[in-house]
Amino acid sequence: MAQKEQWGTRIGLVLAMAGNAVGLGNFLRFPVQAAQNGGGTFMIPYFISFLLLGVPLMWIEWGVGRYGGTHGHGTVPGMFDVLTDRKKKWAKYLGILGVVMPLIVFIYYTYVASWMLGFSFFSLTGKYFGSGDAQAKADHVRTFLANYQNIGESAAVAGWMPVAFFAATMVFLGWILARGISGGIEKLALYGVPLLFVLAIILVVRILTMDPVAASPSEGLNFIWNPDWSSLGRSGVWIAAAGQMFFTLSIGMGSIQTYASYLREKDDVTLTGLSTAATNEFAEVVLGGTIAIPAAVTFFGVAGATAIAQGGSFDLGIVAMGSVFQGFPAAELWGFLWFFLLFIAGITSCVALASPTISFLQEEVGFTRKKAAGAVTMLGIGLGFFHVVFLQRGVLDEWDYWAGTFGLVVFAAIEIVLFAWIFGINRGWDELHKGADLKIAAIYKPIMKWVTPVFLFGMLGWWGYTEALPKLMMAGVEEADMPYLWLARLLMLSMAAVGIVLIKRSWNRKGLER
Ligand code: PHE
Repeated sequence: MAQKEQWGTRIGLVLAMAGNAVGLGNFLRFPVQAAQNGGGTFMIPYFISFLLLGVPLMWIEWGVGRYGGTHGHGTVPGMFDVLTDRKKKWAKYLGILGVVMPLIVFIYYTYVASWMLGFSFFSLTGKYFGSGDAQAKADHVRTFLANYQNIGESAAVAGWMPVAFFAATMVFLGWILARGISGGIEKLALYGVPLLFVLAIILVVRILTMDPVAASPSEGLNFIWNPDWSSLGRSGVWIAAAGQMFFTLSIGMGSIQTYASYLREKDDVTLTGLSTAATNEFAEVVLGGTIAIPAAVTFFGVAGATAIAQGGSFDLGIVAMGSVFQGFPAAELWGFLWFFLLFIAGITSCVALASPTISFLQEEVGFTRKKAAGAVTMLGIGLGFFHVVFLQRGVLDEWDYWAGTFGLVVFAAIEIVLFAWIFGINRGWDELHKGADLKIAAIYKPIMKWVTPVFLFGMLGWWGYTEALPKLMMAGVEEADMPYLWLARLLMLSMAAVGIVLIKRSWNRKGLER
């Protein structure tokens, strides 16, 4: 087998990991989650989730990834196998979650990222701009977005345009992925991540100096920064906060592990892992939290902004922001900066989502990197069109629920049992500290062994009972949409089934199965 690839430079690795974590989750999903859950009410469960789930899991995933990588495995099935010293046969099969989930998220995430490219373009041309008051402008952008998403000919957007932006995004991604870890992903991060931060800082300054319309920007900041301690007793807010933590840090997925598998045995994971988490939080709460929410509050007032956020993940970032910029001098340029920022944030995460499958195809199926990158790109295009066409049927939301929300908690629960209990916390702790530049505070040892698992299993039980069950039974779904959602589920299960067969074959061939 070919020598495993490695990161070229430490700064490249740090930026690639930041590019992995910082994505649409920070700038689109976070403001919506915060606004839907009452602003400041959201922030306390959010920070507790950061300390008790985010940070320990980030360390564990870096450690598991490096350990797997030095034992010849760049993906979770092999990593779970070595965590059990290859003694528990089931572990590697459960690990397929860490390949299939990022692949499914890749499929819809790339499509959403391509909308950002489209909107960058339509900002420059002023195509989605409307006239009238704030509400009329918002309605105009909303209609434009719906036309764009639903890919049919409309006066506003010709049907081929969203398809062209999607195709362009996929071709670009395929090219980066084929160039490999240090030559492709690392280079993209080296340019993309600093640019992303510069754009975000420019936008923060612009939003904070906005003239008051329905309210002032500081009222927007008040809205998210006024903590409400009574939220601690509300379970819905906890689930939302923890779910956001997983998605934004890219944990519970398999993606951080694959990136970390390209480390050398003596490369630090404690300090760099923590700085990835910290960089992501800066990008999320400081930058992400100071753009969409204050802008929407200034333009629509607190009640207006909250109402918009109820409309879903894209209403704040696309509809509200698209309307806000129209009031600015050089509106075309501001809209472009925002959507282009989102596009860059999106693609540096897309390559991270594709990486587990590529690495899996290389190591367990014997593909070359180019062939693996081609296969993932084709899958992304082929399956992408499935949900592009059936978007209104709720296919994207269905995938996002299982592979981008609920599944992450299931995966993390399995992972922490393997790491802290089966591999063993003492061994795990020593493993994390190999070549470490930072000694982790001792309190994190009992946190990893007890607190995080209890938190995870508690959430699983509660969430599984109150949400996943009705979701599984498709409560509230229109009868006509059901066949499409069943098909979407069948596709996910088939991908997992194919993965399991490939694992079995590969282990047999390598003589690892005892
Ligand atoms: N963390 C990314 C975001 O915030 C999404 C992502 C999840 C990327 C998992 C890679 C792996 O948008």
